[in-house]
Formats: sequence, structure tokens, C-alpha cells
Amino acid sequence: MHLHKYEKMWMLIGGGALLIFLIMLGVGAFYQGTKPPSCLTTIDPQNVEAHDSFKTENLGLQKLDDHQYVVNVIASAFNYDFGTDEEGNVVRTIRIPTGSEVMFQGTSKDVVHGFELAGTNANMMLEPGYINTVETTFNKPGTYTFVCNEYCGTGHHYMTATVEVYDE
Ligand code: CUA
Repeated sequence: MHLHKYEKMWMLIGGGALLIFLIMLGVGAFYQGTKPPSCLTTIDPQNVEAHDSFKTENLGLQKLDDHQYVVNVIASAFNYDFGTDEEGNVVRTIRIPTGSEVMFQGTSKDVVHGFELAGTNANMMLEPGYINTVETTFNKPGTYTFVCNEYCGTGHHYMTATVEVYDE
């Protein structure tokens, strides 16, 4: 079989690029131990309430310290459960003072859901059987919207919630 000079050259470049890519991937995964963020903590998806963080009274915004918060959330089709407020109303909006550092911690009761807070770096999957976390700092006041960015069924596009960041 005769290969043209340029054909050989491009095959070498193509094959070489692939090889470099695979070596980088291999070194990252096996030598440096790179893996997808969080999702190392497991949980029984049938009984998420058994886990302290997902007990009804611990859902939603929890203050740790000055400007340090944790938000616990359970996703299920097609809702984010942030628990209830003092009056017993279902929480649809999380209210946080400007400058807060917030760790969102969530899991799913049924299928994989997305958890993206538009306009911030917070973006993760909520998977049944796993607890996932993401941290973000709110430096700008305003209203931010959570969207589910993993298709989860017919009501997928209704799956939203909001964060309101206010100046103290
Ligand atoms: Cu939940 Cu899409």
C-alpha cells in the first residue's frame, strides 16, 4: 500500500495527539488520582431522612458561623426540598446576606437531577445514593435561580428555586 507523504504526516500528527491525550488522562487518573468532584459519600436513597443533614429540621439554610452557611437540599422529581420556615411554609427561596460562604449539600431520592445556580460557580449533579457538595461565595446582592440541568422527566423544566442575596 502506498501512502502519500502528507497522508503519513497527518496520520503521525493525529496518532501522536491521541497518544499525548491518553497519556495525560492516564497520568491524571492513575498517578495523580484525579476524579470527579465529591460524590464519595454514600447514602440510602430510600431513606435519606436517616442521614443527619437531610432530616426535615436540618433542610435548607443552616448557619455555621458569621457568613458561613450550609444549605441542605433533597431533590426529587420535580422539586428541590429546602424544608419549611418557622411558620411551616415550604421554602422556595433561600435568603443569604452578601459576602456569605455557602456550601450546598444535596442528594436525590429518585433519579439524577442537576443543581446549577446560574451566574455562580455552583453546578453539580444530585445523584441517588450519593451526597454531593459545592461551595460558593456570594459577593453580589441579587436574585439567583437554581435550575435542574439534567433531564429528569416531564416536569424537568419546572424544577427551579431561588437564592436571594441581600445587603445587611
Ligand atoms: Cu430534575 Cu431535571
